[in-house]
Amino acid sequence: MTSEQAYYNTGYKKSISDTHAIRTVENSVEYITNVLQPDFKVLDVGCGPGSITIDIAKNYLSQGGSVIGIEPTPEVIDTANNLKQSIAADVDNVSFQIGSIYKLPFDDNTFDLVHAHQVVVHLEDPVKALKELARVTKPGKYVTVKDGDLDSILIYPPKYDVLKEYQSKGALNRGSTDLKAGRKLLSRAIEAGYKPSNITTTTSTLSFAGQKETKKTWGDLLIKRVETGGEVFVVDDEKKNEEAKQEVIKVLQEWRDDETSVWSAINFEITYKKA
Ligand SMILES: C[S@@+](CC[C@H](N)C(=O)[O-])C[C@H]1O[C@@H](n2cnc3c(N)ncnc32)[C@H](O)[C@@H]1O
Repeated sequence: MTSEQAYYNTGYKKSISDTHAIRTVENSVEYITNVLQPDFKVLDVGCGPGSITIDIAKNYLSQGGSVIGIEPTPEVIDTANNLKQSIAADVDNVSFQIGSIYKLPFDDNTFDLVHAHQVVVHLEDPVKALKELARVTKPGKYVTVKDGDLDSILIYPPKYDVLKEYQSKGALNRGSTDLKAGRKLLSRAIEAGYKPSNITTTTSTLSFAGQKETKKTWGDLLIKRVETGGEVFVVDDEKKNEEAKQEVIKVLQEWRDDETSVWSAINFEITYKKA
């Protein structure tokens, strides 16, 4: 049986969720604006702390458009509701509810846009999830899915290569994260029954470089996440794991403060017009 929550499988961790809360439509899912219309009924599946969901409601919908964010973990829903309260208390076309991507609590053909950002990459059964996204989408309307490809991470100078190694280990040991999920997304969508001629595939990069403020923010969030997010770098050896953790924190601090350092990874996006 597939787990309904493979991502927070050792319990909800605020420092992990915090790394998602800096996301907006513009910095994370700009490709959805190719199809998103102001009057759309939108579903954001695996919405996390809801920063993208709220941004969609606030800045991209009007004319009766609305968005629902879905998450299986109560703490994540609380985080999203708190964020809404603090940055969009007057916005009444966004709501959050508990649910799983494997069994969405909606009828067939309900939404104009069904969206999942960095969710399918963490699932044990991506094809089943992709089928469910299409089920609740109206014919002629859209499913948009974006997944990172952690195996594509590039870091420079080489002394920081150890960060890629640890990022992969942390992700693998957390559970079902597929390091090559991004490049597999198109074939998985076709396996899920998406009509190939109705799929548009795009890519984008997430990059941090030089002395940009975004790089410092990202570095700080990652350091917090390694400190308190419970990521496991060395399995079944607490002492070695703690040593590895301290090493990652030290190298991350250096990387963050190094004006020559860069980090980049490829993300794959699909936009499917349901047949
Ligand atoms: C990397 S986060 C992405 C969050 C958000 N989409 C964003 O981009 O900020 C992955 C999210 O998928 C959620 N998730 C895990 N299993 C899920 C499931 N079965 N159904 C829906 N969401 C799930 C996790 O709780 C987590 O919030």
